[in-house]
Amino acid sequence: MAAKVKVRKPGPSSPASSAGDAPVRMYGVSKSYLPGSWALRNVSLEVGRGEFVFLTGASGAGKTTLLKLLFAAEQPDEGQILVLGRNIARLGGGGVPALRRRVGVVFQDFKLLNRRTVEENVGVALDVVGCPRRETRSRVFNALRQVGLHDRRNHQPLTLSGGEQQRVAVARALVGEPEILLADEPTGNLDSELSSGIIELMMAAADRGTAVIVATHDRSLLARSGGRVLRLENGGVVESQGDSGARG
Ligand SMILES: Nc1ncnc2c1ncn2[C@@H]1O[C@H](COP(=O)(O)OP(=O)(O)OP(=O)(O)O)[C@@H](O)[C@H]1O
Ligand SMILES: [Mg+2]
Repeated sequence: MAAKVKVRKPGPSSPASSAGDAPVRMYGVSKSYLPGSWALRNVSLEVGRGEFVFLTGASGAGKTTLLKLLFAAEQPDEGQILVLGRNIARLGGGGVPALRRRVGVVFQDFKLLNRRTVEENVGVALDVVGCPRRETRSRVFNALRQVGLHDRRNHQPLTLSGGEQQRVAVARALVGEPEILLADEPTGNLDSELSSGIIELMMAAADRGTAVIVATHDRSLLARSGGRVLRLENGGVVESQGDSGARG
């Protein structure tokens, strides 16, 4: 099954951003939920415009925590986090929603609105920014077509399989053409062929300039990516390039 996974390697033309203006920057970040134990310890990293990065590490290593810090769902105990040039510790009242409109997120537990249709779920972010209804409909249709679910657009999420719900969550994250895409195990419920397709979509977003971070346990994806892999170990981050990232 794993042999079927084909993930295109990021091309040499992927735009690299200069260090100072990378959309994702973390410096010396630590996060503790309980006194005496660190979910993240002294993590520093940068992810540039157009970069595609896998984030890996054992269960409990802090992958979800790191992503949550980047969309201000959690605050760090130490260190500095700059997202799209904004220090997230200093975002005012309207700052968090304004920032989140520029960041697409695929949550580990999807977080779909179960009383809305698939189409409404994917379109919600476009509605919020006042996108005209016709444009929203056509963008949502295209996003759903890319994940193979346009024919399910009038269904409610709970009538879909776990993998289908996951693909709706991916469509919702991509439809707004975000500057940053954070995806937490976005292929966890998918077979290798669908996983591959989803990763291709995310790599295409990176080619258009999005900074993409994908948390995954999937060794076959890591092994074939050939790209940058950030591994969380003992609270800290270890960086590797290419197939050597497939150990964990
Ligand atoms: N809300 C919370 N309250 C207390 N501890 C938490 C909370 N969220 C996470 N943790 C702890 O922080 C650590 C990192 O958790 P996190 O969810 O970030 O790991 P993960 O790498 O995403 O794991 P998985 O691969 O299982 O999704 C774990 O030890 C976890 O128990
Ligand atoms: Mg997690």
